[in-house]
Amino acid sequence: MLSKYAARSLSVHGRWFSSSTARHTKVAVLGAGGGIGQPLSLLLKVDPLVTSLSLYDIRGAPGVAADVSHIDTPGEVNGYPADKLDEALDGVKVVVIPAGVPRKPGMTRDDLFNTNASIVRDLAAAVARVSPEAHVLVISNPVNSTVPIVSAVFEKAGVYDPRRIFGVTTLDVVRAGRFVSGIVGTNPVDTPITVIGGHSGATIVPLLSQSSFGKGISGEAYNKVVNRIQYGGDEVVKAKDGAGSATLSMAYAGAKFTNALLRGLAGEKSVITPTFIKSPLFADQDIDFFSSNVELGPNGVEKIHSIGELTGEEQKLLEACLPELKKNIEKGKAFVESSP
Ligand code: NAI
Repeated sequence: MLSKYAARSLSVHGRWFSSSTARHTKVAVLGAGGGIGQPLSLLLKVDPLVTSLSLYDIRGAPGVAADVSHIDTPGEVNGYPADKLDEALDGVKVVVIPAGVPRKPGMTRDDLFNTNASIVRDLAAAVARVSPEAHVLVISNPVNSTVPIVSAVFEKAGVYDPRRIFGVTTLDVVRAGRFVSGIVGTNPVDTPITVIGGHSGATIVPLLSQSSFGKGISGEAYNKVVNRIQYGGDEVVKAKDGAGSATLSMAYAGAKFTNALLRGLAGEKSVITPTFIKSPLFADQDIDFFSSNVELGPNGVEKIHSIGELTGEEQKLLEACLPELKKNIEKGKAFVESSP
C-alpha cells in the first residue's frame, strides 16, 4: 500500500508528464555526502517532480551521485566535488542545505552555531551569486539562526525575496503526527498536527488543540507528548550515542517538504505546511522569522496563515518560545553583520 505522500507524488507524476514534460526542475543538495544528505538524495531521486539532481559536498558527493544515478527513475543525477560549487548550483530551482555538523549527546542545536553559521553563510553567498532566484531550504542547525543568516546574505547581495527562503521544520511536524497517532490510535499520515514557532526545544510549539485527534489529549499525557515533540531529537542523539542526530527521519522530512514546495511551484493549489520563514506574525515584538502554516505556490510562500486560536497551555508554550526565538534570530543576523 502506498502512503498518502507517495500516492500523491505519483498522481502528480502522471499529470506532470502528461502536461509539461518540457519543464525542468533541478534540485541541488549541498552536504549530499552526509548522514542526511545521502538518504535525502535517494528520496529526491525517486521524486518524479525532480528532473535533475545536483549533489554537492566538500567530500563524497560524486560517489553518492554515481550510486543513486543507477536507480531506475528518469531524473538525471550529477555529483560535484569541493571545488565545483558554482557548477553544482548552475540553473537550480531549489537548493536544499543539510551541510554542517550534527549534535552529539549533551549538545543543544545552538552549540552548533560556531561551526555551521559560516558553512551556511558561505553556501548561501554562492547561491545568491549563481542562482539568485533559487528557493533555499535550510536544514542545517540551528535553523532558528541559519534561516536569518541565509536571508541576511541574500539581502546583502541585493537578491533577497523572503518568499523563497525556508527553514525545514517538517521533522517536528512528522514527529508530532507520529507521536499523537501513537496515543489516539490513528494512522500518522491522517493525523496532521500544526507545529509553530521555531526548531529547537522550547521554541517548538505544537498545537494539539487544532487537531480533531490531538485536542482530546490532556493532563499528564498532554505534557508528555508536547515534551516528546519538543525534545524528540534528543532521543535520537542519545540512542546514536555520539554518532550524530536524526538523519533518516530528517531525510524523509526534507524530501516531504521539498515535494510540497515542488507541487506548489508546479501550480498545485492548497499545499499548506508549517515552515520557518520571514513572517509578520510577531514582527511587532521584533521577531521577524516564525514558523506557521504557509501556503506554497508558484512563487514559494503565497500566504502566511495566522496561528489561530490557542488554549491557555499553548499560549504558555508560545510565551516560552518567543524570547528564545528572538535571541536565536538576532544571533544569526549579528553574525552576518559582523562578517566581512
Ligand atoms: P553529517 O556530518 O553526517 O553531514 C554533514 C555533511 O555536510 C558532511 O558530508 C560534510 O562533508 C558536509 N559539509 C560540511 N561543510 C560543508 C560545506 N562547506 N559545503 C558542503 N558540504 C559541507 O551531518 P548530518 O547528520 O547530515 O546533519 C547535517 C545538519 O542537519 C546538522 O547541522 C544537523 O544539526 C542538521 N539537522 C537538522 C534537522 C532539522 O530538523 N532541520 C534534523 C536533524 C539534523
